[in-house]
Amino acid sequence: MEFSIRALAPQGAKTGCLVLGVYRAAGAGAPVLTRAAAAADRAARGRLGTVLAHGDLSAKPGSTLLLHNVPGLVAERVLLVGLGEQKEFAETAFRKAVHGAAVALRELGARDAVLYFAELKVGRRAMAWSVRQAALALRDAFYRFDQLKTQKKPPAPALAEVTLAIHGEAVTEQARNALREAAATAEGVALARTLGNLPPNICTPSYLADEAKKLARQFKLGLEVLERRDMQRLGMGALLAVTRGSHQPPKLIVLRYMGGAKKAAPLVLVGKGITFDTGGISLKPAGEMDEMKYDMSGAGSVLGAIRALAGMKAPVNVIGVVPTCENMPGGQATRPGDVVKTLSGQTVEILNTDAEGRLILCDALTYAERFKPDAVIDIATLTGACVIALGHVATGLFANDDKLAEKLRAAGEDAWDRVWPMPLWEDYQEQLRSNFADMANIGGRPAGSVTAACYLARFTKKLRWAHLDIAGTAWKSGRDKGSTGRPVPLLVRFALANAGR
Ligand code: BES
Ligand code: MN
Ligand code: ZN
Repeated sequence: MEFSIRALAPQGAKTGCLVLGVYRAAGAGAPVLTRAAAAADRAARGRLGTVLAHGDLSAKPGSTLLLHNVPGLVAERVLLVGLGEQKEFAETAFRKAVHGAAVALRELGARDAVLYFAELKVGRRAMAWSVRQAALALRDAFYRFDQLKTQKKPPAPALAEVTLAIHGEAVTEQARNALREAAATAEGVALARTLGNLPPNICTPSYLADEAKKLARQFKLGLEVLERRDMQRLGMGALLAVTRGSHQPPKLIVLRYMGGAKKAAPLVLVGKGITFDTGGISLKPAGEMDEMKYDMSGAGSVLGAIRALAGMKAPVNVIGVVPTCENMPGGQATRPGDVVKTLSGQTVEILNTDAEGRLILCDALTYAERFKPDAVIDIATLTGACVIALGHVATGLFANDDKLAEKLRAAGEDAWDRVWPMPLWEDYQEQLRSNFADMANIGGRPAGSVTAACYLARFTKKLRWAHLDIAGTAWKSGRDKGSTGRPVPLLVRFALANAGR
């Protein structure tokens, strides 16, 4: 999918499909043409208005109506897209409208399209916002994961050329930059989605390491992969405890993109890479256990974000640190009650082997200290409790630095990949008390996502650190089961904003 942006009068757009938005008036619900739709309607001597007057376009944002042979227009077809009530038009309606248009274009098999979405005003947001969201939503809707199906649906001709058109105003430099950012971000999201969707017998720790190798080659990144013996030599007792039951060798991937000033301290992204989480000896119930293949989504988002930043040649220094292994039961597996020594020197009583994410993360976070980072953000499908707290809308945000937290909140709001702050108060720490080690790895049922974050906080005292619990946002269940690619858009936007972009 190639994106371009330009100022263009809709009546002159030479394209397979011209996509125009239509609002509804409040109350009565009469159609209200957007600026571009109104211009096209004038050229078509009122044909669009006449068709709409029949009431064939439903009032819901994202509904569509396809027209052929519209007089006065160069375009082969016109796709009218409902935007919902003009008064209520906001971020979610915008995303729904673009998604609806994309689905219609997919079904149509359009090869190219000219869309007038970038110029729509969404609250107080600048044109750059609409450009970014439109490009990301389009690419997202055309994403397919069918590499493991032998009976492929007839391959729909993919939408190869997308023009985001603006009518009656100039294309700003910010809008052009936004499109470049979005196109690269979309590639990162697609990578994260595919890594998440791949089954656990394919997407193993070694597979993730190979994927990092591919990225390193393609984008000339620095890469180091620590093996089990390196972890043993360093003393990563917590990470090693999780991998014990598995036949797959563990890896610690360190991927560097240094696009910023030589002396600028790097942003370190630490991604949980459990390629399958059975729970270990504290075995999970069978229902939906397949979804624990997504337990490497943090790792996928780190690789995706680095791919995006390297792809757009962003002026930032980012280091991805990905501890990756499987959590399996077995004769060699860690037992509830085992006490291990972490890389930090602190000891942990593993009371529940299913609280494994924090165990691999604590050693990776200690390891991150050596990069003298500006900030460290870990991304993890860490707790079911976070899904209960925030559902599938917001990612849980925990941080030991208020400025960092605020920057992440703002980046999430801007990327429309939102996070919500959760407490890291000292009062919760006592839940991690152990009679036999410095701490336990679980804090009981109350505030499960908070005590998990409080555990990590014990390993990040020397760092400016934030933790993103993406258990509710990294994938969807049910009929639309699949990885979402979140929070790649947030991470990319944060890294750029942090570098003043
Ligand atoms: N990977 C899971 C968290 C998870 C569970 C994400 C369900 C999404 C949906 C994590 O390793 C885990 O098992 N956490 C336990 C922690 C508990 C044992 C303290 C949980 O959330 O139940
Ligand atoms: Mn677990
Ligand atoms: Zn897990």
